[in-house]
Amino acid sequence: MEYLEFAIDVARKAGEVLKHYANREKFVELKGRANLVTVADRESEALIISAIRQQYPHHAILAEESGALSGSGPAEARWVIDPLDGTTNFAHQYPFYCVSIALEQDGVVTCGVVYDPVRDELFSGAHGLGAFMNGKRIAVSDVAKLSDALLLTGFPYNLREQLDRLVGQFRAFLNESQAVRRGGSAALDLCYIALGRCDGFWELNLHPWDTAAAKVILEEAGGLVTDFKGNRFSIYMRQIVASNSRIHDEIVKVLVAVPDELGGV
Ligand code: IPD
Ligand code: CA
Ligand code: CA
Repeated sequence: MEYLEFAIDVARKAGEVLKHYANREKFVELKGRANLVTVADRESEALIISAIRQQYPHHAILAEESGALSGSGPAEARWVIDPLDGTTNFAHQYPFYCVSIALEQDGVVTCGVVYDPVRDELFSGAHGLGAFMNGKRIAVSDVAKLSDALLLTGFPYNLREQLDRLVGQFRAFLNESQAVRRGGSAALDLCYIALGRCDGFWELNLHPWDTAAAKVILEEAGGLVTDFKGNRFSIYMRQIVASNSRIHDEIVKVLVAVPDELGGV
């Protein structure tokens, strides 16, 4: 698929930008209380946008640092970009971050690429064509019970406004699963489920650029993505539950059972 090949090429180039700054001054700035942006976020995004502008000038773009940009033609296609997912990790030299590039066509994410430049792991997927890591087909795990599952999660930057709710959910999953990890890159978390390294994930307040590419990769690998109640997921929703599909109902059940005084679902 032409768009996927293009996205793979651009994600690798953007990954080179992240590698370049990995051991250099990153000029860290604050966008919010704990929300960082670095020179690498900006340069990676500029590289991706300029490649799209050159190749597909009529396409629209939604990018984390630049917002919504229109193209020169009707916006039947829009690229959804996170130039660096895991900026806090990157700023601290914690090696877990990636580039995420997806294409949305008529409101449906049709292909996506997530590239981890540290491990040189490139995840890709296209609607109906399967999911791959470095060109090899991937599939979700066959873990069938929450009690045997390795779960992943993340916390939003405004976590102090809803700490009880977040801790309530975290506590419930610590109790019900085999273990829970908090990696710091939602896009990579979702791809790790696609690859079968982990089995389930939940998070509040993610943005379209965090989930767009990984959603199509995970679904093509046999995974399931919904909101906290088990409803069909859209990248514009603020709640996400993702899994190998087998443990999905159990995850949703735990979220629904978090007491109302903690915010419920
Ligand atoms: C963040 C990461 C993190 C998640 C945050 C996101 P950023 O993206 O995906 O894992 O917990 O909610 O905002 O800011 O590093 O691109
Ligand atoms: Ca992100
Ligand atoms: Ca980002």
